[in-house]
Amino acid sequence: MTEKKARIAVLVSGGGTNLQALIDACKSGIIRSGEIKLVISNNASAYALTRARDNGIHAVFVSRKKNGGQEGFERKIKELLEKYEIDLIVLAGFMSILSADFTSRYPRRILNIHPSLIPSFCGEGFYGLKVHEAALARGVKVTGATVHFVNEIPDGGEILLQKAVAILPADTPEVLQKRVMEEAEWKLLPQAVEMVSGDIITEE
Ligand code: GAR
Repeated sequence: MTEKKARIAVLVSGGGTNLQALIDACKSGIIRSGEIKLVISNNASAYALTRARDNGIHAVFVSRKKNGGQEGFERKIKELLEKYEIDLIVLAGFMSILSADFTSRYPRRILNIHPSLIPSFCGEGFYGLKVHEAALARGVKVTGATVHFVNEIPDGGEILLQKAVAILPADTPEVLQKRVMEEAEWKLLPQAVEMVSGDIITEE
């Protein structure tokens, strides 16, 4: 008998180290209730697409421009999610804000990883390295990462998991970004994906 698993789509924009953490977690068994069926990027040259294909995962670039803007872009994503019968959407370094029309279709079915302790350094304009630049500029001594459900408020949905990471005196934004990824993001995201995937398969 084949075990039922939640079907996961991962949305990416860049390097895809969080995607890699999810792929590794599927292989090691940290994620056992879900499997990655599809990777979607809004950036044609995202290395995350290569990571997906190298691991036999279907990977697609969806252009906002070629789809006539946000509405067409989201329509195309929805079509793909339906085609691949996706149960859970994971935003892993996806640097594009989804409309309320989109997010309201998938309540508690979209996860996002954010590289700070929400509600600090989050919301519109806070993404990638900018988050760590802001944390260092403010002089906080502790930062971290958060996994949360996505709703219509950027970084405003229910928090699932958080992990704190120390800021050290010599930190640059790049050094801090790497520590937050290694100590928090790459652990939290697979954990959260397993939690929600487990809920999905037991609900059905
Ligand atoms: C990660 O630090 C992720 O938390 C962040 O971008 C980076 C992507 O890296 N996401 C956001 O800032 C979203 N608001 P990756 O492509 O190597 O996973």
